[in-house]
Amino acid sequence: MNEDVLIICESVYNGNTLKLATAMAGELNCLLVNTKEAENLDLRKYKTIGFGSGIFFARHTPILMEFISKLEFSEQPAFVFSTHGSPILGKYHKPLKTLLTKKGRTIIGEFSTKGYDCTGPFTIVGGGNKGKPNESDQRKAARFISKLFPKYKRIDDYLSLTHIESLRDGVTNVYKIKKDANEIILKGDIVTVNQNKCIGCGKCLKNCPLGIFELRYEKSAPIRELDCVQCRLCQSYCPTRAIYLHGTWKDSIRVAKRHSKR
Ligand SMILES: Cc1cc2nc3c(=O)[nH]c(=O)nc-3n(C[C@H](O)[C@H](O)[C@H](O)COP(=O)(O)O)c2cc1C
Ligand code: SF4
Ligand code: SF4
Repeated sequence: MNEDVLIICESVYNGNTLKLATAMAGELNCLLVNTKEAENLDLRKYKTIGFGSGIFFARHTPILMEFISKLEFSEQPAFVFSTHGSPILGKYHKPLKTLLTKKGRTIIGEFSTKGYDCTGPFTIVGGGNKGKPNESDQRKAARFISKLFPKYKRIDDYLSLTHIESLRDGVTNVYKIKKDANEIILKGDIVTVNQNKCIGCGKCLKNCPLGIFELRYEKSAPIRELDCVQCRLCQSYCPTRAIYLHGTWKDSIRVAKRHSKR
């Protein structure tokens, strides 16, 4: 778990901003809390804190603003994020940034996307920005945060393999690599599980809709990886970030063919 960064998010309207916060926390493997939960934490121990919410009347939600106004003065860097209903963001981040700056914090980055909004004229058409933030927005949020904190980028050990064997139907490939004098065992070509990181919690087994994984010697093995549809559910549930996906468009065609035969 990344103990350096904390994300505080108040997503009071439709849970729009929480989707971005979850994508960012997943990318950084850090804690994500709301303001109430944050009150019980010692915020001084984090090197950087991210603050985010939806935009309400041209600023972040009052709950978040109030929480920040009570914070101690600190030189801790901060980043801000939001979702907004209007076509452009405008200067909606300014009140929050000004407040954080007054509290001694330096703003190191900011991010915003559109969020589903069913207010004002949008009610006539059943709401604006339907489905937003969507998957693409969540990926953008993850890219934003990984650029801001390159140190916490997921390192995919599979990519360091010098020789990758060709796929054999139904067989899970196993690789041993050495890194910093430690031996790492990887399983799978399309779905790779780092056996050293896997704690055998079984969450990937329960949540993979295609039943790709099985526990072998108390570790997850991607036994049926050739059926993987790259939905990424396993990655979002894995607490230790042990899973990597390598599917290409060729694999997607192969998967579609295999499924159509059933
Ligand atoms: C009462 C209210 C006021 C809002 N005011 C604004 C606004 O001034 N500018 C804007 O772009 N969006 C505005 N929105 C839209 C929200 O910012 C948008 O739906 C956001 O994604 C909500 O985030 P949340 O679901 O995380 O709370 C408003 C929404 C509500 C309900
Ligand atoms: S990406 Fe989806 S289908 Fe593939 S292993 Fe993970 S959960 Fe299963
Ligand atoms: S979710 Fe992650 S840690 Fe848990 S069994 Fe699967 S790969 Fe291992």
